[in-house]
Amino acid sequence: MKILIADKDNQAVKLLDLILKELKFEPIVCNSGEEAWRRFQSNNFPPVLIIDPNLPDISGFELLKRVRESKRGKVTYVIFLAPRGLRENLIAAYNAGVDDYIVKPFYAEEMKARLRSAKRLVTLQSNLLDRNILLEEMVYAVTHDMRTPLIAMEMTGKQAQEGIYGDLPESYKKILKTTEGSLKDLLSMVDNLLRVARYEAGKIERNTEPVDLLKVCQECLDELRPIYEKKGLNVRLLQDTLEVKLTIVRQDLKRVIFNLLDNAIKFTPARGSITLSVQKVQDKVIVGVQDSGRGVRAEEAKELFNRFARASGARHAPGTGLGLYMCRRIIEAHGGIIDCIPRKSEGEGTGTTFSFMLPVQN
Ligand SMILES: Nc1ncnc2c1ncn2[C@@H]1O[C@H](COP(=O)(O)OP(=O)(O)OP(=O)(O)O)[C@@H](O)[C@H]1O
Ligand SMILES: [Mg+2]
Repeated sequence: MKILIADKDNQAVKLLDLILKELKFEPIVCNSGEEAWRRFQSNNFPPVLIIDPNLPDISGFELLKRVRESKRGKVTYVIFLAPRGLRENLIAAYNAGVDDYIVKPFYAEEMKARLRSAKRLVTLQSNLLDRNILLEEMVYAVTHDMRTPLIAMEMTGKQAQEGIYGDLPESYKKILKTTEGSLKDLLSMVDNLLRVARYEAGKIERNTEPVDLLKVCQECLDELRPIYEKKGLNVRLLQDTLEVKLTIVRQDLKRVIFNLLDNAIKFTPARGSITLSVQKVQDKVIVGVQDSGRGVRAEEAKELFNRFARASGARHAPGTGLGLYMCRRIIEAHGGIIDCIPRKSEGEGTGTTFSFMLPVQN
């Protein structure tokens, strides 16, 4: 296991080197923070780091921050090796996210014990991470392979309803219609999962284009009209501007607005109302979807943007709890924020507002 040491104190480094070799670590020794940061990246992110917080160039805290912020999907165990000092230093280090704090001069046996424990934890965490990745990949592979047969089934069902395979009694047609609905739900779930997978892998398309936001809003409303009209919902579009151009992947913007509207329709009882609003504020645009439905409890609001999160009262409605998660990934990838304003009072039916903000390029 590789271990990176960033310390200018030769005495300590020499002793460490001996201990590390005995424990079968491969040490990479650096004398400054910048060098450590460079070699951390060029050595495939060693899982254990021993850092002196008082490095000559960038501080150990800054180095720690960079290490923690670099998203690599790998485990890193960071130990601060500091001169004896104030208790506050130790507290500050733990608050900044170190895993262990050892005071100089250190006892060889204590250092060995702590490094063994570091090795144990890194191995455990890495195994968990690997398993997690494997599981995720499996889910996405299965999802992907489900797509084609689902589309085929949907098409065959449609053709059967149209009578291509001969005349069918009304009762059969009714069953086929219901099946078509279920297939559509499944397909939408599969598409959401695949979309999420792409964002998680950091593989978002860069073919962003100037997109007419209001046109996309109108398209979503048109596509959803049959559903909200059937429910007798009063849906309107409020806009304080005639044109907003956003630099974004068009299909993704549509997914976000579509999902917010789809949720509002799903969670608002018949004859309720929904307002889609577009507001331009300086170099930003705020899009809101307000409904008069069951609303969201304040303590649940933030949670709903997590994967597979569904509010306690929503289990009866169709869905997987991926929509808002996907919305968040898309909006954040484009430098925006998405939020939920929960219902005002405890009573259901006071509605809720989901809104997102995106920067507008003039
Ligand atoms: N307008 C809303 N009113 C009340 N609750 C909502 C509203 N929008 C979302 N929620 C709550 O947030 C949860 C998560 O929404 P999300 O769009 O992520 O998933 P979903 O609609 O349940 O399923 P999916 O979008 O994957 O088909 C919902 O299950 C519901 O509990
Ligand atoms: Mg949804």
